[in-house]
Amino acid sequence: MKSPSTSAVPPSDIPLQARPLLEVSNIAKCVQGPEGVLTLLEGIDFTLSGGESLAITGPSGSGKTTLLGLLAGLDTPTKGEIRLNGSAFSTLGEDQRASHRGATCAFVFQEFHLVADMNVLENVMLPLELAGREKPAAIAKDWIERVGLSHRLRHFPATLSGGEQQRVALARAFAVQPRLLFADEPTGSLDHANGKRVIDLLFELNQHSGAALVLVTHDPQLASRCQHHLELHEGKIMSKTFAHQKPGEASDIEKYLHQESST
Ligand SMILES: Nc1ncnc2c1ncn2[C@@H]1O[C@H](COP(=O)(O)OP(=O)(O)OP(=O)(O)O)[C@@H](O)[C@H]1O
Ligand SMILES: [Mg+2]
Repeated sequence: MKSPSTSAVPPSDIPLQARPLLEVSNIAKCVQGPEGVLTLLEGIDFTLSGGESLAITGPSGSGKTTLLGLLAGLDTPTKGEIRLNGSAFSTLGEDQRASHRGATCAFVFQEFHLVADMNVLENVMLPLELAGREKPAAIAKDWIERVGLSHRLRHFPATLSGGEQQRVALARAFAVQPRLLFADEPTGSLDHANGKRVIDLLFELNQHSGAALVLVTHDPQLASRCQHHLELHEGKIMSKTFAHQKPGEASDIEKYLHQESST
């Protein structure tokens, strides 16, 4: 497998953040169910700095996807606050939230969300074109090759297997070189070999370009490679194993990237 290109280093105008990249303060999510109010999440509290990795695990229905949607600002908590890059989502309008998110994050959804009438190459090029990146086709082809799908460039999503669709969704997320990548069951539809390939790519992105990872997974091998681990049960934190963090201090990788960008 190829190692990431030097374009993996974020642009030099990214300031060193004094605050963690993601701050989650005591959030809850309640919805109106057929038999009254349902509490989907409660008492969720943690911080994540640039370059760190977090695995979120728990049984089906424990609230993992709901939490990811809140962290990404796609949904709003009933209680508590989420800050991305120092800005509280609650203080931003919908459009501001979308552009704030777009500048920092990429997603791999549980259901992939590929654009049905675009082929593989066009799907991976789309976010690059939206971000105004130069040479979107060349970047997209490079990432499609890294996920092992060069032979499917002109195929449409409906003609791909579940695992192939998942790898297109991953290439699309990796290609924009996000500072924070959210992925919901990124190896859920993959066989052992392709699962390993995707896990290696995730951690290359993490280690070489300093992207923080928030991964929802049932895969113990993937969870064990993350620095931090949050286990949910019925919407609450059942266990929280965070490697040592100094609150408010930039991670080593952020300091390294800052040094690189100021030389
Ligand atoms: N809008 C909603 N209204 C009512 N209940 C909801 C809503 N969204 C999610 N739920 C319920 O909240 C619970 C958590 O759902 P969620 O999708 O977050 O689970 P999950 O941990 O991601 O599960 P899985 O591992 O199966 O993907 C589920 O019981 C689900 O039925
Ligand atoms: Mg889910």
